[in-house]
Amino acid sequence: MPDKFTVFDCQILTFRKVFNRAGNITAVQNGIDVPFDIKRIYYLYDVPGGESRGAHAHKDLQQIIIAASGSFDITLEDGRNKKTVQLNRPFMGLHVRPGIWRDIANFSSGAICLVLASETYTEDDYIRNYNDFILYKEQL
Ligand code: TYD
Repeated sequence: MPDKFTVFDCQILTFRKVFNRAGNITAVQNGIDVPFDIKRIYYLYDVPGGESRGAHAHKDLQQIIIAASGSFDITLEDGRNKKTVQLNRPFMGLHVRPGIWRDIANFSSGAICLVLASETYTEDDYIRNYNDFILYKEQL
């Protein structure tokens, strides 16, 4: 059974930024900079103005969400607590633990939401109904 994580367990990680007059570099290395093995990388882009994404939780998956370009807001919920974080720096990532509901909104024009994920894609890992999520958290 997974741990009953709260939104307070979901923290911002700051990666090293290599400054260069001709442009900066941030490297994220498996086993060094992230607290899980990265099995998948995906990114959201071309999000139309006013759209929101997410509206689900995962049972086992954990992720680091990075605004590789632009900005957006992530609202996290654990069934008791709620917090909203704005991501707007490509060298910062939000570590989203398993069992956390997330909504992603207020995408700036051209924003890129880069996600480092601990598992490959499995629809069975999703909880897409909010009431099911609340019940799931209660029985953990
Ligand atoms: P979903 O995770 O629900 O998107 P978001 O949280 O950004 O709104 O994914 C939307 C669809 O994209 C999903 O039904 C299947 C597909 N998908 C994949 O095929 N592979 C993936 O790694 C992801 C994240 C999504």
